[in-house]
Amino acid sequence: MIEPLYSPASDRYESGMKYKRSGKSGVLMSALSLGFWHNFGSISNFQNCKEMMHCAFDNGITCYDLANNYGPTYGTAEETFGRLMDISMAPYRDEMFITTKAGYDMWPGPYGNWGSRKYLISSLNQSLRRMHLEYVDLFYSHRYDPETPLEETLQALVDIVRQGKALYIGISRWPKEAALTAYQYLRERDVPCLCYQGKHNLLVRDDDSINTAAENGAGYVGFSALEQGLLSGRYLNGIPEGSRMARREALTSDRLTPELLTKIKALNEVAKARGESLAQMSLAWVLANPNVTSVIIGTSSVEQMKDNLKVLQSAPFTAEEQETIEKILK
Ligand SMILES: NC(=O)c1ccc[n+]([C@@H]2O[C@H](COP(=O)([O-])OP(=O)(O)OC[C@H]3O[C@@H](n4cnc5c(N)ncnc54)[C@H](OP(=O)(O)O)[C@@H]3O)[C@@H](O)[C@H]2O)c1
Repeated sequence: MIEPLYSPASDRYESGMKYKRSGKSGVLMSALSLGFWHNFGSISNFQNCKEMMHCAFDNGITCYDLANNYGPTYGTAEETFGRLMDISMAPYRDEMFITTKAGYDMWPGPYGNWGSRKYLISSLNQSLRRMHLEYVDLFYSHRYDPETPLEETLQALVDIVRQGKALYIGISRWPKEAALTAYQYLRERDVPCLCYQGKHNLLVRDDDSINTAAENGAGYVGFSALEQGLLSGRYLNGIPEGSRMARREALTSDRLTPELLTKIKALNEVAKARGESLAQMSLAWVLANPNVTSVIIGTSSVEQMKDNLKVLQSAPFTAEEQETIEKILK
């Protein structure tokens, strides 16, 4: 059967998505970004990947977050993305803000990891080939490398922009002192850091990075807002078949302690009283921080994505709700 051509929703920019400026830049990011860490690799069902991609774009998500080693297996999430560009998304390239990263182990030997110029530039070249792109909108150093001189990593990032292979630069999971050096180094070379990417959610707070980014004119992009699914309804009644925990992919069952489950159940009651799913409330809590530019959602189905998109209609938290949430998590 010949599949019909993808025709995106004509009201995609009127569907309620909010767009927020990343730091002091010209870039507006969608409040929700779509992440490709899991659920888009070679082990995933391509039809499902395609439906999630189209659902995201149809609902105004313009930001897509990848990295060289997303899959599993490594590189295959970028390959899936390249396939999606080929079959339907290429006409919309200029409506999309596409991100990749390098910093973790990618290929064997001394040049496939960390923060050397050799690794970052070769890795981005590979990513562009896999994604079928001429450039990415944003390239991140995925982690700080304590062994490589900071100037080497940072100058490689500057040069990547000068070569036209990325329009903007970001840093992810860098400790404060190194991040401060990065903000200054990049600013002085007229390649200001667009954003910092870190983990901020109800269970794991990253206020220091958020505030430091804002003070340095950078945005903040949050990942794992649901703590990989723990802060959703996914594990309220055990470990469902097919879930990330059941698949033992980066989330192991020892995380689901009785103490944590009690907290999750109590948070779920707060969400219910707000008329929301727990996932929605957890996302709303992160987005309530005015210095958070975008939250990257990772979903395994269109249903989850639609549930998460409802966060755009979430009411602000009352002082009482905030107090109850903090009491639960104390
Ligand atoms: N910079 C970094 O170092 C870094 C690190 C981690 C992630 N990231 C980025 O951030 C993105 C998101 O991270 P994440 O995948 O950990 O995000 P997350 O939102 O914390 O977890 C996503 C998982 O939660 C479950 N879920 C999502 N929505 C749900 C809903 N409405 N109801 C029930 N369950 C739901 C799904 O689990 P199931 O699969 O079980 O269905 C989904 O795979 C990644 O794709 C990546 O782009 C960056």
